[in-house]
Amino acid sequence: MSRPNIRYPPKVTPTFKLINDARERLKNTKYKVMVLSGKGGVGKTFVSSMLALALATKGYKVAILDADIHGSSIPTMLGMIGERLYASEAGIEPATGPLGVKVVAINLMLETPDTPVVWRGPLVSKAITELLAKVNWGENDYLIIDLPPGTGDEAITIVQVIRDLDGAIVVTAPSILSEVIVAKAINFVLKNNVRLLGIVENMSYFKCPKSGDIYYLLGKSTGEELARKYGTKLLAKIPLDQYIGEALDKAVPYILAYPDGEAAKALMKLADEVDRMVREGKN
Ligand SMILES: Nc1ncnc2c1ncn2[C@@H]1O[C@H](COP(=O)(O)OP(=O)(O)O)[C@@H](O)[C@H]1O
Ligand SMILES: [Mg+2]
Repeated sequence: MSRPNIRYPPKVTPTFKLINDARERLKNTKYKVMVLSGKGGVGKTFVSSMLALALATKGYKVAILDADIHGSSIPTMLGMIGERLYASEAGIEPATGPLGVKVVAINLMLETPDTPVVWRGPLVSKAITELLAKVNWGENDYLIIDLPPGTGDEAITIVQVIRDLDGAIVVTAPSILSEVIVAKAINFVLKNNVRLLGIVENMSYFKCPKSGDIYYLLGKSTGEELARKYGTKLLAKIPLDQYIGEALDKAVPYILAYPDGEAAKALMKLADEVDRMVREGKN
């Protein structure tokens, strides 16, 4: 196995050939779901990586693309240390994450994970298209795509290259449940004719493990109201859970290490709901 023969940073904007190759490569992936938000730090990477694992525990073949080029963090969230992408005759081979989830992230290609990526927009678009086009994705039930905050180059590239996205999930948290920020992400999804599966409200509340009392640490949630206002669903309310940080420190994926945790249960329900909606949307 050798290092992928791929030029980084790439030189030009994506060509039609590259875009077509990407579509061809993803032909045997049944369902494609992107995860986005108007803001950073709300838990997109947490939700997308745990959703991927939750779907894998249901027996699905799952792949995940970390499309956050500047802030690639899916490998860390999945507890993958020292993993790399390698080239084979068939292309770039995804790294194998927990439960056999295929993981593709720019951080798995850099010399060291702390190497900064200092590319401007066109290079970012090219890099994402190139990853989609050159990775040997194989056959999958699901591809989950984790996006950086906002609706910039990465999100635009994904909706343009993957024309058959099965849905989008907008992640938010009570503190940023400012309508304008959530609305930006929702409007981006709708304007690009992607099916909005719904909103996930992360960090909704904290349940004291001793007393069972509930605290709204980031503010009282209004996820239901927002979902109603934008004609969509509140897919899940995921609480704050101290074991998430602990799992990260131990480099183990939270949902596998603490399957009975409050947040883990909410994530499993989210996976059931997303799976149901996506499959019913297709059939
Ligand atoms: N429900 C939660 N409870 C506790 N910590 C959380 C929760 N959701 C996310 N986090 C933590 O918050 C930080 C930001 O989450 P992340 O998924 O990286 O956000 P984003 O991808 O939206 O920028 C991470 O350290 C993550 O582990
Ligand atoms: Mg992230």
